[in-house]
Amino acid sequence: MSQQIITDLNKRYTAKKYDASKRISDTDLEIIKEALRLSASSINSQPWKFIIIESDDAKQRFSDSFANKHQFNQPHAKEASHIILFAYDPFFTRDKFRERVDAEVASGHLPAEMYDNFMGAYAFAEANTDEQGYNGHWTKAQLYLALGNVLHTLARLGIASTPMEGVDSELLGEIFETELDGHVCEVALAMGYHKEGEDWNYGLPKARLPQEKIIQTL
Ligand SMILES: Cc1cc2nc3c(=O)[nH]c(=O)nc-3n(C[C@H](O)[C@H](O)[C@H](O)COP(=O)(O)O)c2cc1C
Repeated sequence: MSQQIITDLNKRYTAKKYDASKRISDTDLEIIKEALRLSASSINSQPWKFIIIESDDAKQRFSDSFANKHQFNQPHAKEASHIILFAYDPFFTRDKFRERVDAEVASGHLPAEMYDNFMGAYAFAEANTDEQGYNGHWTKAQLYLALGNVLHTLARLGIASTPMEGVDSELLGEIFETELDGHVCEVALAMGYHKEGEDWNYGLPKARLPQEKIIQTL
């Protein structure tokens, strides 16, 4: 299949070793940030926060978060060009949703007279909220849409990346407590350019189940 989308998706892969001398351009970073912002989410809830790690100081803090586990991902902290902490809001309240509905109206997407109707969509969040107000399972699902969106964006930009569930959420929560502002980070994404000759995962064929196994057309 030679379609450009498929070519790009076949080329994207999980980088295992970065070239610390190569940096993502400001132009590409802007595209990545806008792709994050444009990600879809149920009821346009956007229950997330993305922390972009760029400075040496922030990279050191991220590196420190591997003190107890998942050290196999630690080299990316300093060798990748940038890292994104993907964080979800475990307590996405009706008031927070109101802020999104305000944006719906302000953007011109939603007519002002439809405000209350749209607020009613919070029922989707409510259906996924327990007595303590926790709805992290639902907001985390929304967060992964942004992750997928950025993986595809990076594939199209020809930028290598490493999704990492191998992070220490607890320690990250302590080290980046201020920036996370109540959000929870259980997945991060390293981005940059692979190190020639040292990235064992580069250029290998894709290992996926056949379509017949996973897709059924009725
Ligand atoms: C949500 C998620 C978490 C992952 N966590 C890690 C990780 O912590 N470290 C790592 O090296 N790869 C990680 N991976 C990479 C997967 O192993 C990889 O995407 C999968 O084997 C498919 O290979 P490909 O990305 O090269 O196409 C993760 C991928 C995803 C989507």
